Amino acid sequence: MKKVNYGVVGTGYFGAGLARILNEFEDAKIVAVYDPENAEIVAEELACEVEPSVEALCQREDIEAIIVASPNAFHKHPVLSAAQNKKHVFCEKPIALSYEDCREMIDITAKNNVTFMAGHVMNFMNGVRTAKKLINDGEIGEILFCHAERNGWEEAQKQVSWKKQRALSGGHLYHHIHELDFIQFLMGPAQRVSMVGGNVAHQGEQFGDEDDMLLITLEFGNNRFATLQYGSAFRWSDHYVKIQGTKGAILLDLQDVQVVLKTPEREEKFLLHESAEEDTDRTNIYRGLKSDQAIAYGKPNQTPPMWLHSIMVKEMTYFHNIMKGAEIEAEFIPLLDGTAASASIATADALTLSLNEDRKVSIEEITAKESLQS
Ligand SMILES: NC(=O)c1ccc[n+]([C@@H]2O[C@H](COP(=O)([O-])OP(=O)(O)OC[C@H]3O[C@@H](n4cnc5c(N)ncnc54)[C@H](O)[C@@H]3O)[C@@H](O)[C@H]2O)c1
Repeated sequence: MKKVNYGVVGTGYFGAGLARILNEFEDAKIVAVYDPENAEIVAEELACEVEPSVEALCQREDIEAIIVASPNAFHKHPVLSAAQNKKHVFCEKPIALSYEDCREMIDITAKNNVTFMAGHVMNFMNGVRTAKKLINDGEIGEILFCHAERNGWEEAQKQVSWKKQRALSGGHLYHHIHELDFIQFLMGPAQRVSMVGGNVAHQGEQFGDEDDMLLITLEFGNNRFATLQYGSAFRWSDHYVKIQGTKGAILLDLQDVQVVLKTPEREEKFLLHESAEEDTDRTNIYRGLKSDQAIAYGKPNQTPPMWLHSIMVKEMTYFHNIMKGAEIEAEFIPLLDGTAASASIATADALTLSLNEDRKVSIEEITAKESLQS
């Protein structure tokens, strides 16, 4: 059986996790990795080689696809290098920290005719697929409004992670693009947006410089709206998405884990993950966390929790099957043609502009500027 050979850029917590998963597939092999700090330890575990640079990795003739799991600000360079060397790419979220970079990455991968899959892993959750199916089956009628919260409290850090530094992670909004992406998947791209907030409670050396409270409004036209809250200045933590339709509503609770359909006739519960055991495991993890629950600090040798591992397996299986020539299902096309990534980053950029200039911003301001430049 011919194996698909992979290279990995960034073998920290997530990159090492994705690499381990791929390496366990019988027809996949990680042949080399690049990471400025953690390459050796992971290469030894995976019995693969270490390359001294992104270019050296991407130029290898024995590699078909590159997995990019470096810090968010360092996704663009490896994606462009991979595409220029005709390698397919899977890139962790957020793809980029600006719409401009996002477009460039999508354009170059398209020009080189390689797959460019965005790591929006939430799409592989059972509960998300259930919610999409319930909506497609007309169970809640037409969607009027969505509301998401991804909030917690961050304690003082001994060492401030890149995930807390705006220039490297993009801050809560970009780093946790999942909920914004999911809502736009359901409601289409927003037309006009606004955001207020700031760094309200986390200044000083033991914290990063990201805003810890972001309050967002999305307008879709036709009297359809969404609101989102992100941040680490919320002592009462929450993590959920609520979908309000004309006939019923759906709650996806990612903290007190459950998926609930509520209509005047019935209330029905569904699993968020693969099994009741995984759902309980996630609930317990959230209950036990003392600091900013929305952030996972890991190390290459730390394995993701059961629920996360299982959706990472589904995501890597999906990408690997595409590498082997599988057809892309309609539901996943936006993840593989740049639509989901560019729509969510365009909205994030518009929200950032709204906060900076204290006004409502239309998404066209972001997308039209870019199409004028190109
Ligand atoms: N989908 C999810 O649920 C999820 C969860 C966690 C992380 N992620 C994403 O995965 C990526 C990595 O996050 P993580 O948690 O593994 O972080 P991490 O800090 O554990 O690992 C990042 C790794 O990148 C390496 N690195 C630093 N600069 C680099 C560069 N210029 N080029 C290549 N590698 C470099 C570091 O040495 C480190 O080993 C991020 O984009 C993050 O958003 C996604």
